[in-house]
Amino acid sequence: MIIDVITLFPEMFSSFLLSSIVHRAIKSAAIQVNFTQLRDFGIGKYNQVDDYPYGGGAGMVIRPEPVFQALQSLQFQQNNRPVIFFTPQAPLIRQTDINRLCQLDNLIIICGHYKGIDQRIRDAYVTEEFSIGDYVLSGGELPAMVFIDAVARLQENVLGDMESALTDSHQDGLLGAPQYTRPAVFNQMSVPDVLTSGDHKKISAWRVNKAWELTKKIRPDLIDE
Ligand code: ADE
Repeated sequence: MIIDVITLFPEMFSSFLLSSIVHRAIKSAAIQVNFTQLRDFGIGKYNQVDDYPYGGGAGMVIRPEPVFQALQSLQFQQNNRPVIFFTPQAPLIRQTDINRLCQLDNLIIICGHYKGIDQRIRDAYVTEEFSIGDYVLSGGELPAMVFIDAVARLQENVLGDMESALTDSHQDGLLGAPQYTRPAVFNQMSVPDVLTSGDHKKISAWRVNKAWELTKKIRPDLIDE
């Protein structure tokens, strides 16, 4: 999967792409992440990319021309490439979205900044918009990293144990069951007996039950769905 990221701050991604599972996904060529510096398509002597909002108000808005030129440099129209924009004004991204999008061969992510990007880019060229939560970040770079992490770990042969992706929280619409490791007793707290029983049927039933219990308590909205 080839991911092209249009951003003013590619350096924000450096340590992220060099760590953990995303790094492994890149090394094995399961994913490739390229950057397009939006500033390179800025306007005038100062490579300006933003401007005051029409109608007034605080903050700056990213102008449409640099974004369009950056998109064109990635041949987005010729190749019909999906273009994703992260914004708090969009539906929350869900595991079901990740499961679908991780199967694409390539996509483009536009990272907004300041007050966002000119609406005309969103109307005409962005194919999907997502929010990563009901709070406001300073830009789309962190959401892009969240997205890249979530799709990278689902690429073939990236996780050692494919089952571990399938048993993640949200993969079956529920939160995951609690996990324990050694020691069996820690500060007078014991691991639930069932997990050390060796009875795999019982362990499985316990996990399903705990997943339901936890989801009902913490995220009843997931059960209502
Ligand atoms: N950009 C700024 N805040 C965001 C959010 N919560 N989700 C996605 N993109 C954003």
